[in-house]
Amino acid sequence: MAERQPEGAVLLEARAVTVRFGGLTAVDEVSAQFRAGELVGIIGPNGAGKTTFFNALSGVTPPTSGELLVEGAKMTGARPDRYARRGVARTFQTPRVFAELSVAANVDFGLQFAGRRREAPRLLKDAASILDVIGLAPQAALPAAAITPSQQRLLEIGMALATRPKLLLLDEVAAGLTESEVESTARLIRGLRGDLGLTVIWIEHAVTTLMRYVERVLVLHQGRKIADGPPAEVVRNAEVVEAYLGDEMAEVAA
Ligand SMILES: Nc1ncnc2c1ncn2[C@@H]1O[C@H](COP(=O)(O)OP(=O)(O)OP(=O)(O)O)[C@@H](O)[C@H]1O
Ligand SMILES: [Mg+2]
Repeated sequence: MAERQPEGAVLLEARAVTVRFGGLTAVDEVSAQFRAGELVGIIGPNGAGKTTFFNALSGVTPPTSGELLVEGAKMTGARPDRYARRGVARTFQTPRVFAELSVAANVDFGLQFAGRRREAPRLLKDAASILDVIGLAPQAALPAAAITPSQQRLLEIGMALATRPKLLLLDEVAAGLTESEVESTARLIRGLRGDLGLTVIWIEHAVTTLMRYVERVLVLHQGRKIADGPPAEVVRNAEVVEAYLGDEMAEVAA
């Protein structure tokens, strides 16, 4: 569903970003540009370096070499709070919610992080409206521990939204969900881009669904970027097909 061509300014740029852990190169000279308003997917087999790349893009793990720029400003080596102030928000592969706090209080925590600095879109003006966006209004008063794992993933998106980001990095927010839950999460993500004008980078193993929603997909394999383009092209890329041992990509291409 490539309903929109990227035309915005470059919001985030990675230039030959490398992350090494001892002798292991988890991210290997990855360069990529993300433009305002884009919805971009990142896929790749287990251990491909997707999460490590996100960690670099959000200041969690500084790159061993290479450069990161947010709206043209050099951010290489900056801490996560500086990325947050620049409008970069992310979720974690393992949800990090405050189990004892209510769902609404978790979102409030994110709002405090945002401070008064940025003008908030109406849809993100307070915890109640954010819970409406993510569909958790009925659970507002429940402790986060009492909601389902799939709802906890939505809550994590809500907490990230509460920081009023420009760029949202989503790391497997649909993992472990049923097919219909994956589909509704994908619709929510598309809505965040459409209704809130966010730029979204979305890592997911549910390749078939992801490909239907993003207009561009990056493929990482053994730390390297092996493809970057519209889903219809990427599924026919020989290196991608090989990385996925053919089967899954053949299914997606069909
Ligand atoms: N903190 C760390 N210390 C050492 N090695 C790490 C660390 N984090 C990740 N790795 C290694 O780096 C490689 C890339 O891991 P990463 O988690 O980025 O992959 P991924 O693509 O997100 O995988 P998955 O799809 O399973 O989430 C793996 O070999 C992993 O074991
Ligand atoms: Mg990962």
